[in-house]
Amino acid sequence: MHSPYSSIRVAVVGAGIGRAHVEGYLAAGAQVATICDLSPDKAQALAQKWNIEPHIESDFAAVLADDSIDAISLCTPNSLHAPMAIAAMHAGKHVLCEKPLALNAENAQSIADCALETGRVCMVSHVLRFRDDTLELKRRAAEIGDIYYGRTMARRQNGIPKWGGWFTQQRLSGGGPLIDTGVHILDLAWWLAGCPAPVSASGVAYAKFGPQQRHLGAGGAENLSGTFDVEDLAAGLVRFENGLSLHFEASWAINANGDERFCHLHGTNGALLWDDAPKFVGEDGTVEALTQGAGSAWRREMEHFLSCVQSGATPNPDAAQGVMMMRMLDALYLSAREGREVAV
Ligand SMILES: NC(=O)c1ccc[n+]([C@@H]2O[C@H](COP(=O)([O-])OP(=O)(O)OC[C@H]3O[C@@H](n4cnc5c(N)ncnc54)[C@H](O)[C@@H]3O)[C@@H](O)[C@H]2O)c1
Repeated sequence: MHSPYSSIRVAVVGAGIGRAHVEGYLAAGAQVATICDLSPDKAQALAQKWNIEPHIESDFAAVLADDSIDAISLCTPNSLHAPMAIAAMHAGKHVLCEKPLALNAENAQSIADCALETGRVCMVSHVLRFRDDTLELKRRAAEIGDIYYGRTMARRQNGIPKWGGWFTQQRLSGGGPLIDTGVHILDLAWWLAGCPAPVSASGVAYAKFGPQQRHLGAGGAENLSGTFDVEDLAAGLVRFENGLSLHFEASWAINANGDERFCHLHGTNGALLWDDAPKFVGEDGTVEALTQGAGSAWRREMEHFLSCVQSGATPNPDAAQGVMMMRMLDALYLSAREGREVAV
């Protein structure tokens, strides 16, 4: 297959969700030149899965020192995003950074500043923006008029990830389900609604099950003598300058009857309903079933990043949008701690 990206050499750092990045780059026709993980076995297993022979590396500094690498996908724990992204851009690499962009808005801003200073492309990986169904909703968004209210849900009933590992430690993750899965769905709603400026936020956060090691996810525990100091459920509301309000719930653990994920946006002329069966609802109540499923979302995301690397265009989303999202999350966490609405 001829690809316009065949000369771009990428390093994927972190071999967890990094597997999806490798898949996307290969489908886009770029070269996965290096896979880096603290565990070389994990990196090697990922290479074998795709039947490729990249350089296997365990030392991120060596990836930075390799002048043949053009771009880096950062798929490491959240606390490493800012130091690694900044070091990568200073080393001349373009960066695709997994969500959330950083632990907090201050860290995220230092990434955005570095992107401006170095002129490197810095994109936040929000794969929900690249699905078949969400792209169709985005194309139809203008038809529903003024989008003034949205409800989003990222509910896991029994889904605490790897208890005692980095996900459940505040200093490594920045928080629980709000910053983990909630950020996906809030970003989707915000993007579909045209990314208006946030004004204020009101949030609540609970840890009713995590500290007791209840409602663990399918992966079980990473370290039962470890720490759980994040929330296991967060909910709240963000208000925007244009009058939009977005309501959300994000949980890893809740007594309920199953998992649920949706993003419903309501406008003055209709509604965009994203869930297992995405729909467009007209003013007169007519319901149109839309495209279902992700399609080649990872390929599309990587193609977009690679095209920005080639052209220098601003990526979707760029680091500035990543900062704005982190400001919303920071405000929601502060609101939950202080029990009041706070400015974003
Ligand atoms: N977009 C999505 O759908 C999605 C899905 C899962 C995770 N994520 C994000 O991706 C990131 C990673 O999550 P994950 O679930 O893959 O976590 P993970 O713990 O499964 O994998 C992280 C990997 O990074 C490696 N690593 C840690 N420190 C390293 C270092 N200094 N150098 C090289 N490798 C290092 C670890 O060994 C591990 O293999 C997180 O930011 C998470 O929020 C995104």
